[in-house]
Amino acid sequence: ASLANLDDEIPAPNRSQDRSRPEEPAPPHGFRNTPDTDPSLPANLAWGRAILDRVPGSTLGKDAVAAATLHDAEALDAVMDTAAEAGAAWGALTGAKRAEILHRAGDLLEARRADLLEVMAAEAGKTLDQGDPEVSEAVDFAHYYAERARELDAVDGAVFIPSRVTVVTPPWNFPVAIPAGSTLAALAAGSAVVIKPAHPAARCGAVMVEAVRVALAEAGMPRDVLRLVQLNEHGLGRELIAHPAVDRVILTGGYETAELFRSFRPDLPLLAETSGKNAIIVTPDADFDLAARDVAYSAFGHAGQKCSAASLVILVGSAARSRRFRNQLVDAVTSLKVGYPQDPATQMGPVIEAPAGKLLAGLTTLGDGESWLLKPEQLDGTGKLWSPGIRTGVRPGSHYHLTEFFGPILGVMTAADLAEAVEIQNEVDYGLTAGLHSLDREEIGYWLDHVQAGNLYVNRGITGAIVRRQPFGGWKKSAVGPGTKAGGPNYLVGLGSWTSAPGAA
Ligand code: ALA
Repeated sequence: ASLANLDDEIPAPNRSQDRSRPEEPAPPHGFRNTPDTDPSLPANLAWGRAILDRVPGSTLGKDAVAAATLHDAEALDAVMDTAAEAGAAWGALTGAKRAEILHRAGDLLEARRADLLEVMAAEAGKTLDQGDPEVSEAVDFAHYYAERARELDAVDGAVFIPSRVTVVTPPWNFPVAIPAGSTLAALAAGSAVVIKPAHPAARCGAVMVEAVRVALAEAGMPRDVLRLVQLNEHGLGRELIAHPAVDRVILTGGYETAELFRSFRPDLPLLAETSGKNAIIVTPDADFDLAARDVAYSAFGHAGQKCSAASLVILVGSAARSRRFRNQLVDAVTSLKVGYPQDPATQMGPVIEAPAGKLLAGLTTLGDGESWLLKPEQLDGTGKLWSPGIRTGVRPGSHYHLTEFFGPILGVMTAADLAEAVEIQNEVDYGLTAGLHSLDREEIGYWLDHVQAGNLYVNRGITGAIVRRQPFGGWKKSAVGPGTKAGGPNYLVGLGSWTSAPGAA
């Protein structure tokens, strides 16, 4: 792996919020979230512009992806054999030793922040304001799981047995944070990792992998503790998942993909974070200014391509009848500047590929009783750039209500009271994120007791979970497997097996 980009012409940003303040003491749990880059500091602005200038000619990660392509089953067997061997060596280290190496990986990911932002913009259309917290999240995963790895050494009466080989299959929508989170968790839990980044954003995964591999190499670990693979046009997906050397798969993707993986190998230990159809409820007791801002950001950040995105807003009682909230929402959404990430003014970027099938239908057709409050328009010939769409009159039980679309569309529903709104929210098969905007304590209490979703947010947007503060994961059809939450205290314990310690009762 090359660190050449560390020393290039782009000056390091001033990432401190305020350098005149003394460092705060480390909190008792030994972990502090990495700050995002503050774009109001002139040095950071110049740093961001220098990154964007490099985006059109960016080649980061290209060679690594090309080199990682598996052409036949023999090549796959060879990868798995060496990974199993490397996994045995890696898993024999103490959690404390792995923690040191993971902390170093976190520092190296931080050092490559500019490269990660460049490749996310170039390959996945991510704006800097979406990509920057994603790098912070990747760095956080490294430091957070490092500390959790130490804890695996110290469980009374039980010994943690690592997996040897974990296959990681991340999605393209968070092409750095999610691959990094799954990879670093499996490494922290003592397993070798074979990662297959999602095809439209594989270069992002490759740059992340390069950074982590430097930490492994510096510590004298075999190269094959972490392997990047790509599948050629003939597939091998089934062979990869069902390979006998694979102890576990960590998937983030659609529920159907989790089912497909299970069909490849019914006894597969699978930890999957799957689909969502997430709603924010706005009651008459909400702060409408805040609610409009949070709904707009949750629905249209990264063009709505987040499993956590708000795809529905449910207006309750007089909030549904008055024009006030709707007008505020339409104002907030129409003022979003849509464009490509190279333009620093862009607030909503393109979708990853020209929409087809379900998403195209969602952007162009309406269900019974629905009308456009804002009709999505295709803005150029690429097919990828769409203005945000808002459909109103979405009926309970309709196709739009129950289906995940993964793009820049928001549906407005109405409910007579909070209880009905929660019923609508819970009627979907999924349960990933959910939001409530209300300043009324009783409403908040009722909602928290009744809503069925893994990540609940009150008076906040519903995307952008922060490591340790908001461990991330769903229930119902939003999770398959043990249901432990990424970035939370129990994630690693589900990634291996446990046996009684010798001499324990
Ligand atoms: N963890 C990502 C979020 O919370 C998916 O938006």
